[in-house]
Amino acid sequence: MVESKEPPVKHQIVVEALSHTYRPARGREVLALEEVSLAIAPREFVALLGPSGCGKSTLLYLIGGFLPVERGAIRIEGAPVAGPGPDRGIVFQHFALFPWRTVRANVRYGLEKLALAREEQERRAQAFIELVGLTGFEESYPSQLSGGMKQRAALARTLAVDPKMLLMDEPFGALDAQTRSLMQAELYAIWQRTPKTVLFVTHDVQEAVRLAQRVVVMSARPGKIKATVDIALDRADPHIYRSPAFAEKVDEIWNLVRDEAIKAQ
Ligand SMILES: Nc1ncnc2c1ncn2[C@@H]1O[C@H](COP(=O)(O)OP(=O)(O)OP(=O)(O)O)[C@@H](O)[C@H]1O
Ligand SMILES: [Mg+2]
Repeated sequence: MVESKEPPVKHQIVVEALSHTYRPARGREVLALEEVSLAIAPREFVALLGPSGCGKSTLLYLIGGFLPVERGAIRIEGAPVAGPGPDRGIVFQHFALFPWRTVRANVRYGLEKLALAREEQERRAQAFIELVGLTGFEESYPSQLSGGMKQRAALARTLAVDPKMLLMDEPFGALDAQTRSLMQAELYAIWQRTPKTVLFVTHDVQEAVRLAQRVVVMSARPGKIKATVDIALDRADPHIYRSPAFAEKVDEIWNLVRDEAIKAQ
């Protein structure tokens, strides 16, 4: 047999001329995405910004394999997306926990599908519960948690599996300012320790500039890529918020987003 030497993948996620139309059984058709092209390198951290309704969640659902690709293409490491997979961890905007499972059992959920010894499952689940600050709530059910706590439990569940790619849809949107800042720092630390390809949707320009190497701004519906801004800041600097370079980037991106937000209204 000839040994095939795979070339290293240049891009982990490639989106090519992707369009998506929702066709509800009742109500009108909505063209949500139009000719979106985007390539994300392995271990790159990309933030996606854009006005409400521009198709950010739709793009994440498509990459995650939760919606069928109808026009255009999405390739993950060269192969067309054929459905969800454990390589892509998701934290969705309205992604619910299993209400009949405790926090611990929710976090263990993804681990149960991996070939891990039971003790290792428990150890990992506990480590991620601690990481997101839910120690003491292991045996609580989702209905007993606040919105922010639920979101943190969902985050722990996704991170525990250690997926190659993280698709995150406003994962910190429901958190209070302090928790959000702590979770940003944690996500950044995790990304540094075990570099993953991250596509991170947010409405928070500061959060995007704080976390991402590249910020992609989408236009008002139908969503297209309006601009891409590279961020070359020292993200390990705890005082990054105070630097003039940070403020400049935030301004630059705000201007792009604001124009689109006005159009969207
Ligand atoms: N299941 C659906 N059926 C019909 N239309 C939909 C459906 N889901 C989304 N849409 C429409 O597609 C467009 C894009 O929606 P999407 O949720 O992707 O936007 P978004 O950028 O994530 O917005 P937000 O910032 O508010 O979360 C919207 O106009 C929305 O009304
Ligand atoms: Mg959304």
